[in-house]
Amino acid sequence: MKLREAITSHLKTYRNVETNASSILITSGAQQALHLIIQFLLKPGDSVAIYIKHRIKMVFLNPIFQNPTGTTMSYERRKKVLEISTQYGIAIVEDDPYSVTGYDNEPIRSLKSMDQDGSVLYISSLSKIISSGLRIGWIVGPQAVIQRLTDAKQQIDFGHPNYPQWIAAQLLSSEGFETHFQHLRIGLKRKRDITLHALQSAFKDNIEYGIPSGGIHLWCKLKEVLNEQHLFKECVKNGIVFAPGSTLGSNDRYMRFTYSRVDDHMIEEGIRRFAEVIKPIE
Ligand SMILES: Cc1ncc(COP(=O)(O)O)c(C=O)c1O
Repeated sequence: MKLREAITSHLKTYRNVETNASSILITSGAQQALHLIIQFLLKPGDSVAIYIKHRIKMVFLNPIFQNPTGTTMSYERRKKVLEISTQYGIAIVEDDPYSVTGYDNEPIRSLKSMDQDGSVLYISSLSKIISSGLRIGWIVGPQAVIQRLTDAKQQIDFGHPNYPQWIAAQLLSSEGFETHFQHLRIGLKRKRDITLHALQSAFKDNIEYGIPSGGIHLWCKLKEVLNEQHLFKECVKNGIVFAPGSTLGSNDRYMRFTYSRVDDHMIEEGIRRFAEVIKPIE
């Protein structure tokens, strides 16, 4: 209860979302939240894609600083999505682990914060702002749905462990949390800039990317078409990894770099090694 109250207040302060403790289910990260919704609110044959010709039950979206592209759906589009969901009675599952990491301190309205009709099941977690190992995530939604998912989670794991919940509640309510948040955003922005600078000096015009204004990922496209598997293996030999485009629903010219976890100097070193691997393959 203490954590759910702390999350209620966090959502109000940082995410413009008004809710209460009984509309929140604590989950093992956003990952379990997604799993519970797919497993217990959908049945085989339900459509969750954006096609009018099927009877769509849900739309899954990660609208702000999307993984892997780092892009944000425009405000107009977010509004339109909500309008359409209300019009056709389609539930939206908003997966939002990144919106509070915006580097410019300008809050971006999540779908949930604009939701007047309770159409949005809102998922987030502490993984990207505190620690992914803590395994604290949550779902906010209508109480009847939360009750149903709470029963489902009870059957799966007998409820969430107390200890990480206690730590999370302490962290969220602590005086230092706001300072932590400021440092987090400043640090992520710096790491993004180091990554961009290193890529620019190593590749000049041979690589394309969008510049993310929040989140932890940089989505890149190489001008040359290279053998992705070979490139990946060579990178691993050189002590670096990236997420290959083909594993993220794209093709082998794309790749995702994640800059949040590594120390600043290791980002430059990583990109230098990446360029070294690319050269003989080109
Ligand atoms: C968009 C998105 N949703 C969910 C997750 C899962 O996060 P968690 O650690 O909270 O389970 C991630 C993690 O990378 C993510 O990027």
